[in-house]
Amino acid sequence: MWWNVLTCGFSWCNLDRMGHALSFLGTPAYGADYNPEQWDHAVWAEDLDLMRTAKVNLVSVGIFSWAHLEPRPGVLDFSWLDEVMDGLAGAGINANLANATASPPPWFSRLFPETLPILEDGSRVWPGSRQAYCPSSPIYLEHALGLTAAIAEHYAGHPALAMWHVNNEIGGHNARCYCDMSADAFRTWLKIRYGDLDDLNEAWGTSFWSQRCSEWDDVLPPRQTGTFHNPTQDLDFHRFSSDACLDIHRAERDVLRAITPTIPITTNFMVNAFKKDLDYASWAPEVDIVANDHYLNTADPEAYVELAFAADASRCLVEDTPWMVMEHSTSAMNWQPRNIAKQPGEMIRNSLQHVARGADGVMFFQWRASRAGAEKYHSGMVPHAGTDTKVWREVTELGAILERLDGMIGTSVTAEVALVFDWESWWALDERAHPSIDVTYRDRVQALYRSLWNAGITVDVVPPDRDLTPYSLVVIPSLYIANRDMAERFDRFVASGGSAIVTYLSGTVDENLHIYLGGYPGAFRHTLGIRVEEFFPLREGEQVTLDDDSTVDTWCELLHLEGATALASYVDGPLPGVPAVTEHHHGEGTAWYIATRLDQAATDALVRTALKTTRVKPPIPRVTAPPGLEATRRSGPEGSYLFLINHGDEPAYVRTRGRDLVADRDVTGTLSLKAGAVAIVQEEAD
Ligand code: GAL
Repeated sequence: MWWNVLTCGFSWCNLDRMGHALSFLGTPAYGADYNPEQWDHAVWAEDLDLMRTAKVNLVSVGIFSWAHLEPRPGVLDFSWLDEVMDGLAGAGINANLANATASPPPWFSRLFPETLPILEDGSRVWPGSRQAYCPSSPIYLEHALGLTAAIAEHYAGHPALAMWHVNNEIGGHNARCYCDMSADAFRTWLKIRYGDLDDLNEAWGTSFWSQRCSEWDDVLPPRQTGTFHNPTQDLDFHRFSSDACLDIHRAERDVLRAITPTIPITTNFMVNAFKKDLDYASWAPEVDIVANDHYLNTADPEAYVELAFAADASRCLVEDTPWMVMEHSTSAMNWQPRNIAKQPGEMIRNSLQHVARGADGVMFFQWRASRAGAEKYHSGMVPHAGTDTKVWREVTELGAILERLDGMIGTSVTAEVALVFDWESWWALDERAHPSIDVTYRDRVQALYRSLWNAGITVDVVPPDRDLTPYSLVVIPSLYIANRDMAERFDRFVASGGSAIVTYLSGTVDENLHIYLGGYPGAFRHTLGIRVEEFFPLREGEQVTLDDDSTVDTWCELLHLEGATALASYVDGPLPGVPAVTEHHHGEGTAWYIATRLDQAATDALVRTALKTTRVKPPIPRVTAPPGLEATRRSGPEGSYLFLINHGDEPAYVRTRGRDLVADRDVTGTLSLKAGAVAIVQEEAD
């Protein structure tokens, strides 16, 4: 091969399926989306120099390059990408090479307008943005697979090729397409799920509103209707749409794997506060490395808590698969209503927070902030203002820190507390025609996670089918859908000594959204020792007082004790005297139920009560930790690393011994950590 003549100090990657897919890097992955096609050649050499200065070891190339690689139908031009790949190889920088299928070029939409997605109201999306294709389009797939094969064959064996990046944020803008091709694919998917039309009618509850389907052709996607959709049809369309997008990943991955079997393959997920269309728990077993894109919700001044949640969720999507951040931002984004720039030190805190929670790499969108295009105001590693900048200084500082983390890859984070998180419940609970518009899935998820964060406890954010037995405390916020298996596993967990917290609307319906009869929350009622007779949502802004003097809002329930005891009851509002928070000793364990929307302080207090029944301890004693100090630990056979991230305004003092790999100095007793600073202490064994 012509590129065998290239010589570089370069680590060749072999995917050992039993080993760690990123270990070839030696240190955590560091880099960005690299889009040199947006720039003159003159800049390319400087890019490589700057990447070396910043200690970049991996860049994602070719993500939006379809129009450059196939400028006209069937005419391929790899010349510019060859130059880029050779340059990377010469500089010893690994390529996470995309198969370039994320956005079909304008000629594709012109030739195949039927591939453009159709919205719920029947209107067709125009080209001119990105991802303008229907996920169920066979024409899109045929062209995407052809391009994938051509790229894989061309770059197989190239020394820069270290990883494959399938597509990009599949379904980010086009997850739900309502066209006739999607309708056909939806029917095929439903036939596999239900087999028989009678079973579908039963699952969808079509006896209501005369919706019974007598032919498969009667079955449609939930297109725009006069009033509410059938809720189970809507949920199944969510499930189908996530699977249709996953099928694109699988098909493109399989082409890559057949041609380059030893190269690890990933695709970037969007586990964050903004995107809910894809059920990544079902995607994660299909990648060699879980790669997440995480952008802060900058409307939230404490967005680092949601960052921690997303990191814990990414780590736990699938067991025994490494994860990394594929994209986050060095500073401002361009797509939020107000794009808040990062404070000095914030980018490093964000990055190391992901590493602290198990990430084996932190990458950015993008290497160089663009001069043109829809995202020209999005920050990059190299800002518009150049290298005499806060961003560039922090980029090089972070690169130097990550280079010191050479024993980090493959070490793990251990948690004794699990928070159950479920995309299906997110889709279903946020449907319309529910008791209160003020009840949203993420609200209680974030509140309960926040309480654990405030207590300094490390949490696994796990899908509902995960084994609960390794945990001491399991937290179940608003898990609207619970199947019988989940209900039984939860009951066994508590009965055999576990502690659990459940919040309102959990376990209300089965996987078809049919309500469990006999009192809410049907799936968990027995374990919780309660029976809820009726929901009493509150008016907008209405508050109710509890007998512990706290106030609640949004939601109340007419609850009867059936073995549980009341910890707090309403003193006013629609249900004076009725229990609002309960505790139930069940078998060897204890389960608490929160029937109302507690404020954060009361939620924190209940979580502390539950933690007291366990032996769960934070990585450092809480008494020594000022508010805003985040502590986590990664450990492996070679030793352990204590991560201390000070998000607060006060200095923190922590007793520890070892070497701080951020400051690059020994710590011999007490580490003092300035406001905003981070330490990673490679701990000395006692
Ligand atoms: C991601 C996407 C990138 C870029 C980035 C910043 O969603 O993968 O291509 O758009 O966001 O907005």
